[in-house]
Amino acid sequence: MRAVVYDRYGPPEVLRIEEVERPVPKEDEVLVKIHAATVNRLDVHTREANQSSGLVVSILSRLVSGVRRPRRRILGTEYAGEVVSLGSAVSELAVGDHVFGNTGLRFGTHAEFICVPESARIALMPAGATFEEAAPISDGALNALWCLRVGHLGKGQTIVVYGASGAIGTAGVQLARYMGADVTAVCGTKNVELVRSLGADAVIDYTREDFTKNGETYDVIFDAVGKHSFQRCKGSLKPGGVYLATDGFRNLFLALWTSRFGDKKVRFQLPPVYAKKDLILLKELIEAGRFRPVIDRRYPMEDVVEAAKYVETEQKTGNVVLTIVDDSKS
Ligand SMILES: NC(=O)c1ccc[n+]([C@@H]2O[C@H](COP(=O)([O-])OP(=O)(O)OC[C@H]3O[C@@H](n4cnc5c(N)ncnc54)[C@H](OP(=O)(O)O)[C@@H]3O)[C@@H](O)[C@H]2O)c1
Repeated sequence: MRAVVYDRYGPPEVLRIEEVERPVPKEDEVLVKIHAATVNRLDVHTREANQSSGLVVSILSRLVSGVRRPRRRILGTEYAGEVVSLGSAVSELAVGDHVFGNTGLRFGTHAEFICVPESARIALMPAGATFEEAAPISDGALNALWCLRVGHLGKGQTIVVYGASGAIGTAGVQLARYMGADVTAVCGTKNVELVRSLGADAVIDYTREDFTKNGETYDVIFDAVGKHSFQRCKGSLKPGGVYLATDGFRNLFLALWTSRFGDKKVRFQLPPVYAKKDLILLKELIEAGRFRPVIDRRYPMEDVVEAAKYVETEQKTGNVVLTIVDDSKS
């Protein structure tokens, strides 16, 4: 099968397409023919061994992904495709099922086929969704769900989603609404209308207004893009308010510190735990018209280097799809 592989950490150019052996499903696995995947921030950070986040993070990244070279040659965490064969112990999925899923740190979705245990994060695609629409369901949404739950976001609470136009942010706005919160979304000018269409109760364009200086206070502030800080947000939190982070080691320390001291809390828990049942929840929300993954650009598999370069700009809106099989041509 064809796959995008890399054998050393580095810039997008280390990626190339190669013929590799097609995997064979074990007893409890299904073989999925992948039609669409995504290129996301986890892919690009892992490919460069998190060098842009400093030496300590880079060392930790290499301990996870392979010290000298990547242990897993194929990146990609999200996929949508068709089940084409089954291990003997598989009982719920069937050949021909259209499925989507998230492999997390096992990666492997930038390829024509993947084997996935039936018990893993794999679910039937939402009714009516195309493969390209189903592939980007989970990356931002699972992360946003995790963060909002860690923050115990409740009905009627007020929340700011900062960076509301990214993969996590676009999902965060919709999921916070689903949880019954009153959502103020913060993004740049070009994304204001999009973010409003996702259901935000109010939208602030950060190029025109600094939400930390408008005199409002909120129960929760969710930095969905890792560009803000507890220090700068503190004055905009109500007494007992919570700041939620998506990355940054300082936030681990602050989470520990504020759990003991002070009225306002930082909540940041690693590693995030993503559950199969949450994929099913997302499928149901999509079918009910309460959630939609936002797609910015689509790239064919052959243009994976360009796709990775675009994701690295940190300016994508929502998600970037990598098309493995161009269904429009069939
Ligand atoms: N996605 C993952 O797999 C993953 C995994 C681990 C950690 N994370 C972390 O989670 C965070 C978000 O990831 P993501 O994939 O959701 O990001 P993303 O999709 O790459 O976010 C891109 C968006 O961020 C907005 N943005 C850029 N600079 C901003 C700023 N200064 N203030 C506010 N918004 C800004 C841009 O929109 P505007 O034009 O509207 O500003 C753009 O739409 C990152 O810190 C990432 O490292 C992500």
